[in-house]
Amino acid sequence: MRISKTLIAVGLGAVLAATSFAQAEDKIVIGFSQIGAESEWRTANTNDVKAAAEKHGIELKFSDAQQKQENQIKAIRTFIAQKVDLIGFVPIVETGWDNILREAKRAKIPVLIMDRDLKVSDDSLYVAKIGTDTYTEGKKAFNWIDEYITKTNRTPRNGGDKINIVILEGTVGASAATNRGHGFNDALAESPNKDKYAILASQTGDFTRAKGQEVMESFLKSYGKDIDVLFSQNDDMALGAIQAIEAAGLQPGKDIIIVGCDAVKGMFQAMIDGKANCTIECNPLQGDIFFETAKKILAGEPVEKSVYVEEGVYPAETAAEVFPTRKY
Ligand code: AHR
Repeated sequence: MRISKTLIAVGLGAVLAATSFAQAEDKIVIGFSQIGAESEWRTANTNDVKAAAEKHGIELKFSDAQQKQENQIKAIRTFIAQKVDLIGFVPIVETGWDNILREAKRAKIPVLIMDRDLKVSDDSLYVAKIGTDTYTEGKKAFNWIDEYITKTNRTPRNGGDKINIVILEGTVGASAATNRGHGFNDALAESPNKDKYAILASQTGDFTRAKGQEVMESFLKSYGKDIDVLFSQNDDMALGAIQAIEAAGLQPGKDIIIVGCDAVKGMFQAMIDGKANCTIECNPLQGDIFFETAKKILAGEPVEKSVYVEEGVYPAETAAEVFPTRKY
């Protein structure tokens, strides 16, 4: 918070000018580095951050890193030079943040993380993290598949003895990808039905629709009718994969069971159209709690190191009813 300057008021006009100048000067200034616009989810997250900043009366310096960690590091360095009150950012990948966060610490600027996790050598390099529990999201995804396969007595399409799963992973090194992968694998290993499943292939689609489509095309070429289930680590890649599956003459959501993560409107529409089976929510509406936490940090109040937002699981049969209530 910058210290407001007092102007000597001469006459009513000058008093009003002084008041509005003081208000502008009193605003908390936050520098925020977003990773880009790779998905419907990310757009919702960015819109929410901007709207929440306005609601909380924050002056937001927003920077889009266009999917590059080096751009995030540059943006954070600029925020330090600008002497912002607090720095927020979404770590595109988990590692590689120590040096720049030490620079922020030396400049005595608190750092608040949003959405993804990071690994640093010293936890005091950031104050807190607001985000989602992506490990649990991965577990929920496998558990839903397991229940669905069991409940529907689904048998392998190729007549074999394994339900074959392919996985579209998110950005390499991103916590949302790593954690969802670990959660999914752990739930599979813990399942009493674990011998019923095989993971045929797992490859990154970088959390984008275009890459999801491209990688699914190559899965279909290599494994054709062996594929029973697609677990896509986000909805955008699932939506791209749906196009690849249709182009291959198969019915997404029927021939191949499709489970995504995020719960964005595009995936609800795909479920309503019978082309996808379930989405595990990853809630992008983190702006309000982010700025509340930022204000507490700047007021010297204690905050939790990790805060998770609430998230649900939405199977296709709930889609039509839930769709009109979705905010993103
Ligand atoms: O970090 C959250 C993930 O990033 C979302 O699942 C995905 O859609 C986004 O790009």
